Amino acid sequence: MTGKSDIAHADWAFPTQVRFGLGRVRELPEICRELTMARPLLVTDGGIAGLPMSAAIMDSCAAAGLGVALYSDVQANPVERNVTDGVAVFEAGGHDGVIALGGGSSLDVGKAIALMAVQKYPLRELTIASFQDFAEIQSKLVTDGLPPVVTVPTTSGTGSELGRASAIIDEESRTKKGLFHPLMMPRICLADPELTLSLSPAITAAVGFDALSHSLEAYCCAFSHPFADGVALKGMALVDEALVAAYRDGADRGARARMMMASLAGGTAFQKGVGAVHALSHPLSSRHGIHHGLANAVLMPYVLAFNMPVIKAKMAALARLLDLTPPSGAAVIDWLVDMREQCDILHSLAALGIIEADIATLAPLAAADITAVENPIAVGESDMAALYGAALDGDLSY
Ligand SMILES: [Fe+2]
Repeated sequence: MTGKSDIAHADWAFPTQVRFGLGRVRELPEICRELTMARPLLVTDGGIAGLPMSAAIMDSCAAAGLGVALYSDVQANPVERNVTDGVAVFEAGGHDGVIALGGGSSLDVGKAIALMAVQKYPLRELTIASFQDFAEIQSKLVTDGLPPVVTVPTTSGTGSELGRASAIIDEESRTKKGLFHPLMMPRICLADPELTLSLSPAITAAVGFDALSHSLEAYCCAFSHPFADGVALKGMALVDEALVAAYRDGADRGARARMMMASLAGGTAFQKGVGAVHALSHPLSSRHGIHHGLANAVLMPYVLAFNMPVIKAKMAALARLLDLTPPSGAAVIDWLVDMREQCDILHSLAALGIIEADIATLAPLAAADITAVENPIAVGESDMAALYGAALDGDLSY
C-alpha cells in the first residue's frame, strides 16, 4: 500500500528520437529530407569546421541536392553574439533547418539559432536566470514554425544532443543563462560513436564526467520524474564500464559507443533536474573559463558528501548496482574519486587555479544559479561558500 503523497503529481516529457550506431553519420542527408529540410544550416565551431568530418557532411548534403551552408562562429562557452550572428546567417541564406554538429557549445548554439529564428523578442529578454523568470519568459516565446534541428554530437557527455535548453553566457553580467523550451528538443539525434574516436584523452575524461554528473545529479534530485532514475542508473553503470577504457584507448569503439550511450542517458535523465554540482560549476566556467566537465569532476564528491544525509538509500542502491562493498554512500564517493584518479583529474579546485579570495564572488553566483534549487538539500550562499571551500582544500569530511 502507498499513501497519497507517494502518488506522482508532475509534468514530464521524454525526448527526441535517436539514431545510434557506428558510421551512421552517412544517413544525415536522408534525415534532413525526412525532416523536410531543403536548405539546412550546419552549425559547428571553428575547430570542427576544419576537420574532415565537416567536409564530408557538407559534401554528402550537397551531393543529395540540399542547399547546405556552414556557420562556424561558435566559441567554447558560447556568448549571445554567437547566436545572433548565426540567426542572421540563417535568415540571409533562407535556411529551413539546423544541423548542430559538435560538443555542447555547438549543439547549444544550433538549437538556440533555430529557436531564435522565429522570435519577436531579442535573446537577452528570453534567457532565464532563475525560476522566478520562468513562466513569464515561456509565455513570450514563439513556438509556431520552429525550424527542425538534428543534433550530431562529436563528444560524449554534454547531453545537449537531447536536451531542451541552451546555456549562453550573458557578457554584460558574465553569467551563464538558459534558453529553455520543450520544443527546443532536437527532432532527431544522430549519434555516431565514430565521430568521437579522435577526441583527446583529457576531453574524453572531462566530458565523460559531465555525462556522469547528469545521471548522478538527476538521480539525487528531489524533483519528480518517474522514469528518470532508471535511466540515470543505466547511465552511471555505462560510465563505470567504459570511461576509463575510453580514456586509455580512444580507438576502443566499444568503450566509445558505451560512453555515447551514457551521454544520451544523462541527457534524458536530466530532464528531471540536476543540482549543486552544476550550480557551483557554472560560475567556474563563466568567470574562470574552466571546462564544464572538468569542474563537475572535481566538485562531484564534495557535493555528494554534503547531500549524503538525504540520499543514503539512493547511494546504497547505486552501490549495489555497481557491485561496491559495502553498499554505501562512502563506497560511491570512493568509486568516484578512484575513477577520477584513473583519468588523471586533480582532486581540488586549488589545483585548477582557484584561490580562497575567489569564493566571495563565486558563492553568490552559485546560489543564484537556476540549477541550485534542484539540489536535494536547500543550498544558500553560505552552503555554496562552504562547498567551494571544501573543494578548494580537497576536504571530503562532511
Ligand atoms: Fe553538465
